[in-house]
Amino acid sequence: MNSASSLVCLILSVLLVLGSSEAVPGECLADVDCPATASVNEIPSPVVDPATVPAQLMKLAELSDTKSSAGVTRLIFTDSDLAGRAYVRSLMEQAGLLVRVDSMGNIFGRWVGSQPDLPAVGSGSHIDAIPNSGAYDGTLGVLGPIEAIAALRRAGFKPKRSIEALMFTSEEPTRFGISCVGSRAMAGKLDPKHLDSLKDVLAPDNGTFRGAALKAGYANATTNTEDMVKQSSLGEYGTYYDSFLELHIEQGPDLEDENVSLGIVTAIAAPAALRFSLTGDGGHAGGQVMSRRNDALLAAAAITTAVEKFALDTGSSDTVATVGVLRVGPGAINSVPRTADMEIDVRDVIGPRRDEVVSKIISYGEQVAKSRAVRWSHEIVNSDPPATCAPKVLNAAESAARKLNLSHKRMVSRAYHDSLFMAEVTPTGMLFIPCHKGYSHRPDEFASAEDIKNGIEALALALASLSSA
Ligand code: GLV
Ligand code: MN
Ligand code: MN
Repeated sequence: MNSASSLVCLILSVLLVLGSSEAVPGECLADVDCPATASVNEIPSPVVDPATVPAQLMKLAELSDTKSSAGVTRLIFTDSDLAGRAYVRSLMEQAGLLVRVDSMGNIFGRWVGSQPDLPAVGSGSHIDAIPNSGAYDGTLGVLGPIEAIAALRRAGFKPKRSIEALMFTSEEPTRFGISCVGSRAMAGKLDPKHLDSLKDVLAPDNGTFRGAALKAGYANATTNTEDMVKQSSLGEYGTYYDSFLELHIEQGPDLEDENVSLGIVTAIAAPAALRFSLTGDGGHAGGQVMSRRNDALLAAAAITTAVEKFALDTGSSDTVATVGVLRVGPGAINSVPRTADMEIDVRDVIGPRRDEVVSKIISYGEQVAKSRAVRWSHEIVNSDPPATCAPKVLNAAESAARKLNLSHKRMVSRAYHDSLFMAEVTPTGMLFIPCHKGYSHRPDEFASAEDIKNGIEALALALASLSSA
């Protein structure tokens, strides 16, 4: 690469970090020959057996509160989650990794490098699963790095920086209402008071995250929630990890549709989570004439339709908004709905654009409540900033794809991931593999053995390259 193209690469890398999402997908960047952190060509080729990880994924899928056709359900700190954790730990031990578990229940398996004091290279994801979901979301990114390390070991590679496979606690918000609890704590972005205030859907009267963690056998060496959260923190940017790369199924259809083997993620969208409570006066579904009603469900329905409209109005497919929860009370066919509780998820890779949609939804909620004479309260449960992936990690992943002759493209992640929080403490990137029809968070989620093998081999090469730098 000559100095002119080095300069182009540098400028584009800076633009990538600073840029808006419309620039972030990086079609222009894909053509630029940026070097990897360390040459992947000098790394012995890791070979992954296509059957190994799919078999492990199926075994993990059996550790579920729902059986087979109903998909996988593995809420954090339940028996099935604890069984899954034990399985992950056993795989880390079999791979010869040094295992540690932190105060939040995050599990780390380290392949110690020749310079163990240098910040390490990390790769991990989650095994908790929302109700009736699939076998691949998160789990691939937990089992993949363990197998990637095993493949590098078999190939005779010797890491300079340690390479660490990890499993984050509670990426999914199902049990406690916020996502990425473990990675949030590692990044120093978890407020212990907020954590204590979160309702446990499995023990709504008095359950707390800390209580559930203690019951599951974690956090025993901590004095209170603040101490528990603090002990998990990785400290200053770049001190614990030198870089982080998460492997994940795409959870969208683009790679499969375009017949591309790998997605190199340039930016990760972040969610804002809202809760609306609408309360009318209810009444008899026969006795109360239409003109005398203040039906909470009708107010919620108007807001739901507007949620879709406000997301579409941005004109970008990167803006998405969903009413995923709507609880109606008292829930009787012959009763006018008195209460409607809504949970609304709004995401974008551009933070201010996402926040504008959030503001429009809130103003509209207030307006509808007024016009339908229902009482209204709202809460912004959570609002995280989106992340931009780091050029050095993107380049390592891209060089790995090139060495393996795998087709690849740069793209954004509209789903969120623990990488959102790892980006707060280290240069971070993500590698996507195709999944069948883009299905995810549903029982028929699927990724082929060949795509899994490709993803893990590319991950292994990229981790090795980052470890050598
Ligand atoms: C993660 O599961 C997400 O909802 O994006
Ligand atoms: Mn998920
Ligand atoms: Mn996931």
